[in-house]
Amino acid sequence: MLNDLILKNRSYRSFDRSRKISKEELMLVMDMARKIPSARNLQALKYRLCYTDEDCAKLFPLTSWAGALRPLVLPPKGHEPTSYIIICTDSDISSTEKNRFLGVDIGIAAQTIMLAATERGLGGCMLGAFSAEKVKEALDIDEKYIPSLILALGKPDEEIVLHDADEIEAPYFRDEDGTHHVPKRKLEDIII
Ligand SMILES: Cc1cc2nc3c(=O)[nH]c(=O)nc-3n(C[C@H](O)[C@H](O)[C@H](O)COP(=O)(O)O)c2cc1C
Repeated sequence: MLNDLILKNRSYRSFDRSRKISKEELMLVMDMARKIPSARNLQALKYRLCYTDEDCAKLFPLTSWAGALRPLVLPPKGHEPTSYIIICTDSDISSTEKNRFLGVDIGIAAQTIMLAATERGLGGCMLGAFSAEKVKEALDIDEKYIPSLILALGKPDEEIVLHDADEIEAPYFRDEDGTHHVPKRKLEDIII
């Protein structure tokens, strides 16, 4: 059921590094993402896959996780993601200046990829906090591609629970057992 997949598809920040993810597995996921809607069907998004230890080691230090939980450092050492998909905008095709729906396209791509990964028993976290220039430089990405969102992937090894909340006082928090809690607005509070 889609509802079960959506529930499972949380933002995970700790992974079992013994579960590697191959290029072939990422390509299966991308073959789904290739068929998603896109404003004017421009399909301006291109994707850089990172699955080698070398690429992952270059990218990880450029990402920033769970700012709201600082000084807690996540992912814990030895629990980093085992692959990444970098969603890039091909500036030869479009840009945020020319296409106000580019962000929508990126969101559709991101959630589709995360759901496809979840269906395969994987999980991850969308990461927006990074320098596009540094990512381009570290991974030798062509100048015309603008890294827009990073999807970190792996086999999650942490527990996350959702709560219905009246007020969203913190974006998320962790209890003494390390369980990660995510408040969500109630159904009646999001219908206007
Ligand atoms: C566009 C976008 C960018 C995000 N960037 C980051 C990020 O840079 N670092 C991080 O730890 N989490 C990031 N997140 C994850 C959110 O913090 C997470 O979605 C939120 O806490 C709710 O948790 P949930 O995804 O389990 O519902 C991002 C999420 C989205 C949708």
